[in-house]
Amino acid sequence: MQLFERIAPLRAALKAHRLAGETIGVVPTMGYLHAGHLKLVERAAAENDRVVVTIFVNPTQFGPNEDLDAYPRDIESDLARLADFPVDYVFAPPVDEMYGRPMQAFVDLKPLGDILIGELRPGHFRGVATVVTKLFNIVQPDRAYFGEKDYQQLTIIRRMVADLEMPIEIVAVPTVRETDGLALSSRNVRLSSEDRAVATVLASALDEGEKVVAGGERDPATVLSAVRVIIEAEPRADLQSLDLRDAATLDAVDRIGDRPVVLLVTARFGEVLLIDQRVAARKSRSAQTGECA
Ligand code: PAF
Repeated sequence: MQLFERIAPLRAALKAHRLAGETIGVVPTMGYLHAGHLKLVERAAAENDRVVVTIFVNPTQFGPNEDLDAYPRDIESDLARLADFPVDYVFAPPVDEMYGRPMQAFVDLKPLGDILIGELRPGHFRGVATVVTKLFNIVQPDRAYFGEKDYQQLTIIRRMVADLEMPIEIVAVPTVRETDGLALSSRNVRLSSEDRAVATVLASALDEGEKVVAGGERDPATVLSAVRVIIEAEPRADLQSLDLRDAATLDAVDRIGDRPVVLLVTARFGEVLLIDQRVAARKSRSAQTGECA
């Protein structure tokens, strides 16, 4: 595994692999790696000849009042964890390598980047789409791996790649959870022990929402209130947003039909903003009634 902090030598190394006809998979991260990231790495290694992991806490996706400085960083332990996996290159640039001059070009998806989390964090997805574009241009991967937990991010990157004709396959990897259901996130380490104990309420509430959708409920408001009631019963959880959207497009849904929907939740526990999601679909009538098809 080789570590690069600069773009030019990484590009030179990857060019040799490309010329040899090898495929390249990239796993973009902001570091502080956990088992969820390592699942992405495993998948990338299974599907590509070469694997690049990028580690970069991207300042442009943090708002002025957000937790950029508090975002956890530990490059030494990240490298130690990656050493057990078939990773060829780690790209961990300093900020001046990625943003060496004031930027004039940005990638901004509208309205997809302005809705949902984009409303809570104005400019966040412009920062994400721009840095992911830069990383894609640096690595020129065949495939890129993203977790389903950041569902809006995943949807935005899929749409960006389609709209801009980027020749990259976006691979979505299911959310990895603690045994009690809490979705893994680099932010979890910042939860107090009291908040950590109750943060599982998000997963339990989503379980309930999934059950209600699977049971055939067509009214989004009914599903959302079943989820909300569980979260609001937990006094330490400060619900910030809860939505039900079309799982492929994130369009609003008036009535749940045969297309899968996604439940998206964000909640604060103390200072820490957690997000979680669940894709849900109505079960077929025979599955609901237990009849044989
Ligand atoms: O999901 C993340 O860790 C970041 O948003 C990403 C995709 C690495 C861009 O900075």
